[in-house]
Amino acid sequence: MSEEGARLTELAKRRGFFLQSSGAYGGVAGFYTYGPQGATLKDNLENAWRDRYVTREGHMEISAPDVMPEAVFEASGHLDGFDDMIVECPECGASHRADHVVEDNTSIEEAESFSTDRIAEIIEENDLVCPDCGTELADQPVEDFNLMFETNIGPGSSSPGYLRPETAQGIFVEFPQLSEYARNQLPFGVAQIGKAYRNEISPRKGLIRVREFTQAELEHFIDPEEDEPPIARVEDVTLPLYSVEQQQADDGDIQEVTVREALEEGILADEWVAFYLGLSKGWYERIGVDMDRFRFRQHLPGELAHYAADCWDAESELAGDWVEITGFAYRGDYDLKKHAAHSEEEFTVFKQYDEPVTVERPTVDPDMSVLGPEFGGDAGAVAEALEELVEREPDAFEDTEVTVEVDGDTYTVDTETAGYSVEEVTESGEHIRPHVVEPSFGVGRLVYTVLAHAYEEDEVDDEQRTYLSLPPEIAPTTVGVFPLMDKDGLGERARELAEELRGAGLEVTYDDSGAIGRRYRRQDEVGTPFCVTVDYETQEGNETQDAADADGTETVTVRERDTTTQKRVAVDDLAETLVALRDGDLSFDDL
Ligand code: GAP
Repeated sequence: MSEEGARLTELAKRRGFFLQSSGAYGGVAGFYTYGPQGATLKDNLENAWRDRYVTREGHMEISAPDVMPEAVFEASGHLDGFDDMIVECPECGASHRADHVVEDNTSIEEAESFSTDRIAEIIEENDLVCPDCGTELADQPVEDFNLMFETNIGPGSSSPGYLRPETAQGIFVEFPQLSEYARNQLPFGVAQIGKAYRNEISPRKGLIRVREFTQAELEHFIDPEEDEPPIARVEDVTLPLYSVEQQQADDGDIQEVTVREALEEGILADEWVAFYLGLSKGWYERIGVDMDRFRFRQHLPGELAHYAADCWDAESELAGDWVEITGFAYRGDYDLKKHAAHSEEEFTVFKQYDEPVTVERPTVDPDMSVLGPEFGGDAGAVAEALEELVEREPDAFEDTEVTVEVDGDTYTVDTETAGYSVEEVTESGEHIRPHVVEPSFGVGRLVYTVLAHAYEEDEVDDEQRTYLSLPPEIAPTTVGVFPLMDKDGLGERARELAEELRGAGLEVTYDDSGAIGRRYRRQDEVGTPFCVTVDYETQEGNETQDAADADGTETVTVRERDTTTQKRVAVDDLAETLVALRDGDLSFDDL
């Protein structure tokens, strides 16, 4: 693990952000428990996501089950295609992600886009060895390994199910009903924040590659012919883009261009993806991602998921590596088409025309008095096949005879017997299958990124200090409340104030143990942006007030984490001031 990773993991465990689960039993790779600080930080990130992508955009949010039946994943393509490449060590038996062995030991990036055969060749050509024991991996087979966790639904093994590998499928399978909730009006978006599970071959880097993680996904259903995103809202946002072209060029680099320029220059091909990149840049800044350690990278052709037509990843830099934190994919109609083909539902939306239109519609009206004697028990199936054919391929009826296939047998029918004709019909609309644009965020990777990017060290009063410069909205605790000392009534007043601030909806911690400097450091380390101290001046204000002195105002100090500056604030204004500071409606400088 890198120095940055080790530092963060140590802080995370010591201060209650996250720790490997089931440690008492030796721990299981790829499973993490969020501690008290981490669980609140994660909640705050999810709420900030909900605010940006659901509430402010007017989308719906659902919560679907984690376990889904096999049929869902047969349809979605995950059963067949959701694989990573595995190579096993012949000596120690450890399993490794073959593309990662290549990336970590050669100059090749994005080895995921190569075939298993090519990866096996690269391993051999470069004499690559097992990362655990150093044994040569040449000649070892490189194979596809399906990442889904399988389970049985109910007793017995007749009803296989899987833990969902992405929350998205829980949205797609409910599309027919969700579309009703949206009154069948495109475009509409459905979001979900929930668990996803992947049996990763080699989990690593703390929360970065785990086997159980939280995704925040938005599936935005659009009419590809008509719906346009509100691009004007984001067109002036500057994006750090690392396109396929730049990745493949010898001197390729990140291009800083506005959304408008990226679309005009064809760097971004799709306006919807461009819209979401523009919208998201500001959100990453809001939650504390360092923009000097951030980029959007386009997927290389071989890297695209089986459902994606185009995909850009938001990536953050962590200990010198670029890590995907969000995928922005144009999924087209892949998922809805697949679920329509595998289920009883159509997964379409009825699109009403502005005015009814008259169209020529080829139809058949098979003469069963002829088909019956000729084809016996198969006559009904032949008639159905004719009806399907006329919809799919009306030109097939232009000759005097037409041929259809039923269960592998061919049947030839006179066009006249088929009752072929072209009718004029008036239609008020048509059934269309929406396309999907999907921003898909990994919440654990966001947690890890904001912690890593917020980590700072400096010196205060000749003492080394570590602090997390988390935005107040995201920090697990907003206010630490301390008495200067727990005596002379200071502790009692501080506890009262902590209670009042909690009542105002703030995340508050009370601490009276140890020297005041130590207490500040403890809060700095978990990123608490403000600390309130009750001291003797507070009491003086009280006493003067009690003495009915018109100038007497009870005050406390409020200390800001990053600068360590302290200001006196009237207790009467304290809750309102801190809420405004947390919500970004007031800056500490303006106090
Ligand atoms: N529905 C699309 C989808 O699942 P993905 O790129 O496979 O796309 C989306 O995953 C996000 O989920 C990623 O950008 C990443 O943040 C997170 N993610 C994926 N696999 C993960 C893992 N093993 N551990 C932690 N986060 C993961």
